[in-house]
Amino acid sequence: MKKLLIANWKMHKNLSDCQNFAAEFLKSYSSKREAWVAPQGLHIPFLIELFKNSNVKIGAQNSSDQLEGAFTGEISPRALKDAEAHFVILGHSERRQIFKEGSSLLNSKIKTALSEGLKVVYCVGETLEERERNETFSILENQLKQAFTDQSKLSSENFIIAYEPVWAIGTGKVATPEQAQEVHFFIRSVLKSSFPEFGGKIRILYGGSVKPNNVESLLSQADIDGALVGGASLKAKDFLELCDDK
Ligand code: PGA
Repeated sequence: MKKLLIANWKMHKNLSDCQNFAAEFLKSYSSKREAWVAPQGLHIPFLIELFKNSNVKIGAQNSSDQLEGAFTGEISPRALKDAEAHFVILGHSERRQIFKEGSSLLNSKIKTALSEGLKVVYCVGETLEERERNETFSILENQLKQAFTDQSKLSSENFIIAYEPVWAIGTGKVATPEQAQEVHFFIRSVLKSSFPEFGGKIRILYGGSVKPNNVESLLSQADIDGALVGGASLKAKDFLELCDDK
């Protein structure tokens, strides 16, 4: 299976930046690796239009656990699906930390997004303090198991894990390939025991300061199936380098 690179643009870019990125990216994209892009919610339909004749998929950075109703400011997974979004990122550490999203809300967001047919990229990761207290595996196991409770729709086709150590996000401190592989191997074992029939096939991406100069050593690890990328996904040139298998 091809490696998957997902651009998380966070709250960056205006419409003309999106247009320039698409033009530059599409000129040279080789499709050697899968490329998905998560722009700001308001830009999703525009990006879908810009990338419509390519195999680049567009998705969201967050969605509500509700389908419709009096929820001012929320984005419904039904509206995302209707707009032809392909996926949604849930549980990013910025959502957990800044917006206080907890395990039961995330469990319900996953359920609602899967029920609408969106693919879910579910982020997990430990903080530096948790790593130093040797709690990495127990924190991750909890984040995974709480997300998995009562998920009848979850499969290896519609569910992807992104392991993002919080201390590596936007800091320039990337996990070493060995550190990342050790955790991915652990996540793989939790997936296999939680879903004996298909857990081994769920893709596990690494995220946290992935750049053109460290991507190959990370992606060459046995259990790293791709990367979720913030900073280095903002420039078409950098994201092209990440998407190009050397
Ligand atoms: P970064 O962000 O690549 O800038 O560290 C990763 C992320 O937040 O998904």
